[in-house]
Amino acid sequence: MKHELQQDIQKVIYSPRRIAGMVKKVGSELSHDYAGKCPLMVVVLKGSAVFAADLIRSLTIDCEVDFMVVSSYVGTQSVGQIQVVQDLRTDIAGRDVVIVEDIIDSGVTLFSLKKLLKEREPNSVKICTLLDKPSGRKAEITADYVGGTVGNEFIVGYGLDYNEKYRNLPFVGVLKESVYSHK
Ligand code: IMP
Ligand code: MG
Repeated sequence: MKHELQQDIQKVIYSPRRIAGMVKKVGSELSHDYAGKCPLMVVVLKGSAVFAADLIRSLTIDCEVDFMVVSSYVGTQSVGQIQVVQDLRTDIAGRDVVIVEDIIDSGVTLFSLKKLLKEREPNSVKICTLLDKPSGRKAEITADYVGGTVGNEFIVGYGLDYNEKYRNLPFVGVLKESVYSHK
């Protein structure tokens, strides 16, 4: 059955099948690189929850999972500052940390998050993102594992939201212009 939110979508960028392929690719790269280790998968809520759920099930190695909620300070000069709304419950000292993100746009959030986690003296910190939007980059940050890239457009679905909606779409797509102008 057609999704009732589908009417708000201008075009689908990644179908469920292609997303599954991306998850599988990233999952096997991680399983290869972390063979014999037990990385801590740090899921940055809320957007990454859907990706993380599929990703950890594609791993063929031991791993642990923890969650974090961070928010960027908006409307201040303190660019690069993040607020930890909900911190990890795991001590990451000496651990191999993999930050799981939905999408990297400006990179500002991740730049600060990586710095913050590194201060806790983990053995390593790598970044794994489902999607990369290189055109939006402001901070110097590159992901170590990338599912796919997107252009300079606002996308929703598979965990990604617009005003908290559309996270439950099984695909990644671009919203219709009319959705923004009506709200
Ligand atoms: P950044 O700090 O600009 O790299 O972006 C941080 C967060 O903004 C991402 O983790 C997403 O949650 C959100 N975001 C960035 N681009 C998009 C988009 O196109 N659609 C939905 N959320 C986005
Ligand atoms: Mg996010």
